[in-house]
Amino acid sequence: MKPVLVLLVSTAWAFAEAQYYYQGLMEYLENRILAIEDRMHLWHEETHRSLTELQDLKKQTSETVDALSREHSALLKGLEEARVRVDRVEGEMDRVEARTQPRACARKADKVVEQGSWELEQSRGMEDEKGDWEELHSRVSDCVEIISGIRSVKILKRLGGAKGMWTRDPRSSKVFVFNGTTGDSVFQFKSVHDLSRSDGVSSGRRVRLPSDWTGPGGAVYNGSLYYIKQEASGAVEVVRYPLSGGSLTDTAIVPVDGRAAVYGLNPETPADLAADDEGLWLLYAGGGAEPNINLAKMDPGTLDIEQMWDTRCPRENAEAAFVVCGTVYVVYNTRAASRSRVQCVFDVNDVVVAEEAPLLYFPRRYGAHASLKYNPEERQLYGWDDGYQIMYRLSMKRKLLA
Ligand SMILES: *[C@@H]1O[C@H](CO)[C@@H](O)[C@H](O)[C@H]1NC(C)=O
Ligand SMILES: *[C@@H]1O[C@H](CO)[C@@H](O)[C@H](O)[C@H]1NC(C)=O
Repeated sequence: MKPVLVLLVSTAWAFAEAQYYYQGLMEYLENRILAIEDRMHLWHEETHRSLTELQDLKKQTSETVDALSREHSALLKGLEEARVRVDRVEGEMDRVEARTQPRACARKADKVVEQGSWELEQSRGMEDEKGDWEELHSRVSDCVEIISGIRSVKILKRLGGAKGMWTRDPRSSKVFVFNGTTGDSVFQFKSVHDLSRSDGVSSGRRVRLPSDWTGPGGAVYNGSLYYIKQEASGAVEVVRYPLSGGSLTDTAIVPVDGRAAVYGLNPETPADLAADDEGLWLLYAGGGAEPNINLAKMDPGTLDIEQMWDTRCPRENAEAAFVVCGTVYVVYNTRAASRSRVQCVFDVNDVVVAEEAPLLYFPRRYGAHASLKYNPEERQLYGWDDGYQIMYRLSMKRKLLA
């Protein structure tokens, strides 16, 4: 009996103990589950908060982007309005300029500078009285045309320095380039086409001249290249170099004040040569105190000066000039380059009257011409504008009284 009792008691004991143990385990597990639930809850909350924050951020970002793009389009609109306004102001300026500028700038050739020419002038006065226009006209110029406009523009190339000049020999079609503002050679190209295909100034044939040239004031006329040379003393010479080769060059000192440049805006040009159907011309400054551009007709063979005129076109703000049919067209600009325009015209024959003198605007480029060379055969100007080689085709009309 006793061992049975002992067994029973011990079994009961073992049961109780096991129960106790399981209960403990259950409690423990329950606590763990609770803790996990808590953490899950916390985590859930955090996720929710992050999500909300993310959404807020997204909203803010899209708002900012919207505002930015609104500002951007407002800016664009403002810019466009400003551009329209600038265009309008520019148009108005052009109109005002056209109205106020001295169109009445065609100068009468009544002031002959050279002493010997006074007699000519006087006998001419008598002819005038007789009304003998034809004879008067044929004495200096046989040509009857005046520029009426710039028909077209061709920007050929950009080579060489910012300043320089180029011109085409009307006889041979060869093109000569004076690169920069001084040098001892020029570059020769077979044609305008040849130049436009070249890689640069130096791909032309280098023609070494008998002396240095000063300023982009050269010209090609009747088979010779003419250029300006300034001595260290300031004296200005015109040099003739025959293109057929040969060393026979002529040099003549001209009565030019080398300390004053002929064009106010191009101080590197002491004097400028121009060739037209009539012959060879020299544009120069009479002296530092002398405000106007002077004109001389030169004998292309001997380089003698045949006649001189005061064009009464101011040197100030002039950038270039050219001669067509015995009429000088002076091109003006501003120091901060804007639009080049012909604003003063001088006719050696007095035929171009103020009313028909054209006010010519060059196409809007906002550059500055270092030189403009007229080619009478093609009726074109060869311009050097801030390193660009530009051709302007001109349209002509007959002079009124011719
Ligand atoms: C052309 O002239 C510019 C400016 O004077 C100079 O820098 C350049 O070297 C010249 N080019 C040649 C080929 O002489
Ligand atoms: C052109 O040059 C030749 C000599 O090369 C000369 O005989 C002729 O008279 C010149 N013509 C003019 C218009 O100067």
